[in-house]
Amino acid sequence: MVEFFDATVETVEHVTGDLYLLRLRDCEALASSQPGQFAMLRPRSWQVDPVLARPFSIFRTSGDRVDFLIRTVGRGTDSLVRCNAGERIDVLGPVGTAFPSPSHGPTVLVAGGVGLAPIGLWIDRADDGMRADATLIYGARTADDLVFLDELSQRVAVVVTTEDGSFGRKGLVTDEMVSLLDGCAEVLTCGPTRMMAHVARLAGEARVSCHVSLEARMACGRGICLGCAVPGVAGPLLVCRDGPVLPAGHVDWEQVLV
Ligand SMILES: Cc1cc2nc3c(=O)[nH]c(=O)nc-3n(C[C@H](O)[C@H](O)[C@H](O)COP(=O)(O)OP(=O)(O)OC[C@H]3O[C@@H](n4cnc5c(N)ncnc54)[C@H](O)[C@@H]3O)c2cc1C
Ligand code: FES
Repeated sequence: MVEFFDATVETVEHVTGDLYLLRLRDCEALASSQPGQFAMLRPRSWQVDPVLARPFSIFRTSGDRVDFLIRTVGRGTDSLVRCNAGERIDVLGPVGTAFPSPSHGPTVLVAGGVGLAPIGLWIDRADDGMRADATLIYGARTADDLVFLDELSQRVAVVVTTEDGSFGRKGLVTDEMVSLLDGCAEVLTCGPTRMMAHVARLAGEARVSCHVSLEARMACGRGICLGCAVPGVAGPLLVCRDGPVLPAGHVDWEQVLV
């Protein structure tokens, strides 16, 4: 079983809006993480509050360094991005399932907001042939929420959408998907649940294989507390153990969206 280890905060960088890049060192255990896998993070300074570690996708690795792209939404994320260099963090990982190795043929990557994190690692780990065959559809509310666009555009074809039309095409990632599904071998997606449900439906209608990376609130991160269960077509799925990456067809989307 994966155990907690001790890592050190190297830097916390404000990227834009509510997005931060947290870089940890002493993370040899995460070096071979696969795209989609995540780690549970808990700074030592939390002591008794917040009590539970929080899950974050592994965004980039380099030697013993690991980057996490963090959107602040509450107490845990707010205090995580206020950590100082040198602070110690308890880390459990890598945890969970990964996106499948690409089949032959074009891959459509669909990322919404901070859902870019596991997709970013997929792009890093892909070889030149896989990247040449991939298109990333990257959506955000507004131009200010888009990150690492230059870096991404140098590696894969990128189609950007913003809801307010302030950059790229105005609309939703799903508006851009259908034209890319013809001849597509695989759709991989991470982002808001409602977005992924729509992506899964479009991929299903086009009979294209689709894997989603689900989110859920987590407590243990190792399949013990049952706190991260989501409805699946064949019974509950534990996001930390059965996922976070799952074939879209295994998820009971109607129940998930209730
Ligand atoms: C496998 C996995 C990978 C993730 N990867 C990333 C990542 O790379 N970057 C990132 O910024 N976030 C990621 N998240 C989400 C992140 O874990 C939560 O935003 C974080 O735990 C919130 O903690 P908090 O204490 O700041 O918020 P809280 O104070 O606990 O909650 C604040 C608000 O956020 C909502 N919320 C909290 N946790 C979740 C959750 N897991 N899913 C949906 N809504 C939630 C609550 O309902 C509440 O409305 C991931 C989650 C999972 C399960
Ligand atoms: S977080 Fe405890 S079972 Fe998944």
